[in-house]
Amino acid sequence: MQFPERFSNLPPYAFPRLRSLLDSHQPGGEPLAMTIGEPRHAMPAFVADAITDAVDGFSRYPVNEGAPELLAAISAWLCRRYGVSVEEDRLVALNGTREGLYNAAMALCPESKGGKPPVVLMPNPFYQVYAVAALSVGAEPVYLPATAETGHLPDLDAIPAETLARTAIFYLCSPSNPQGAVADAGYWARLLELSERHGFRIFADECYSEIYRGDAPPGILAAAERRGSDPESVLAFHSLSKRSNLPGLRSGFAAGGRESIARLRQLRAYAGAPLPLPLQQVAALVWADEAHVEENRALYAEKYRVADEILAGIDGYQPPRAGFFQWLPVEDGEAAALKLWTETGVRVLPGAYLGRDAGGGNPGASYIRVAMVAQLDEMRRGLTQIRACLYD
Ligand SMILES: Cc1ncc(COP(=O)(O)O)c(C=O)c1O
Repeated sequence: MQFPERFSNLPPYAFPRLRSLLDSHQPGGEPLAMTIGEPRHAMPAFVADAITDAVDGFSRYPVNEGAPELLAAISAWLCRRYGVSVEEDRLVALNGTREGLYNAAMALCPESKGGKPPVVLMPNPFYQVYAVAALSVGAEPVYLPATAETGHLPDLDAIPAETLARTAIFYLCSPSNPQGAVADAGYWARLLELSERHGFRIFADECYSEIYRGDAPPGILAAAERRGSDPESVLAFHSLSKRSNLPGLRSGFAAGGRESIARLRQLRAYAGAPLPLPLQQVAALVWADEAHVEENRALYAEKYRVADEILAGIDGYQPPRAGFFQWLPVEDGEAAALKLWTETGVRVLPGAYLGRDAGGGNPGASYIRVAMVAQLDEMRRGLTQIRACLYD
């Protein structure tokens, strides 16, 4: 039997790779996982009853593009959060953002650009689905270093003109995983200007938008509206996974131009897996409620404060502006993760597993990613052990 070549160079996924690195060694203390970005704060209290109330909906096929009440709740949320007016035919409900980030490339990436295979740009390090989406549509993934020197976002002025000429899609994650960097209004404006000049789409992964300190991160929809950009050039992706501590509900959405959304909806009508109706009904209630989001943000504010205290003074340490990861500089991320595990039992992810070797090295190689999802006391213990083991 033949197998496709297009995924043959994919590295093993980060978590199996981590298991190979650590699991043949004994932990040096009580194991504490700070690896995976799975929110552990409580989900909104009303969710359980709401699912029970909606349970009859399991007897029906779900609405592919999203139930009207869900799309209305999302549209109202976008208006409250970003001051933008996005009609329901510019929205599609997703089974979490990951599948949408993938399927949007399937639906919208052209076969060629300027007579050549298209390029899909993405930050490096990055959320791994972007690269698989690019490979699936026969595009060339191009990894743009997002390092401390570039403010942990790609340097938009450093992309070669011939690359921009072939670019069909630019994935940008803001707030970013893993670094917690935020694209400000100026950054979005510059990216939109490049998109207008070179005719590429921006896929803005904004699933961490509600976990931040200080001012709320600006989003691409408002930036595009302000500039009068072509709505078809932009897709924004949002999720309840982090905002509402519901990663298992699998509810997200994409917002964009009418034609782009129509194409995404059509692809999903043929090949998609819509969210079950009762879950869509619950998701509508969750998007409509802001009180639990504020409570959740207050819990993270306390975590940021404790982390700042414990990690203060580490050479090169940059506190995250948003999201729930610490991106900590070390000499060698794999060696640091192994040392931590064998000496303390704390498990963290080597930064290299989230990046690729491109243009002279892997920009994640000298970092570890530490998730601040555990309860505060556990998180405090983990960070204190990290500090003592790797930095003192
Ligand atoms: C940057 C980023 N994008 C997208 C996702 C996907 O989240 P979900 O599919 O749960 O919405 C994640 C999940 O960890 C993420 O870190």
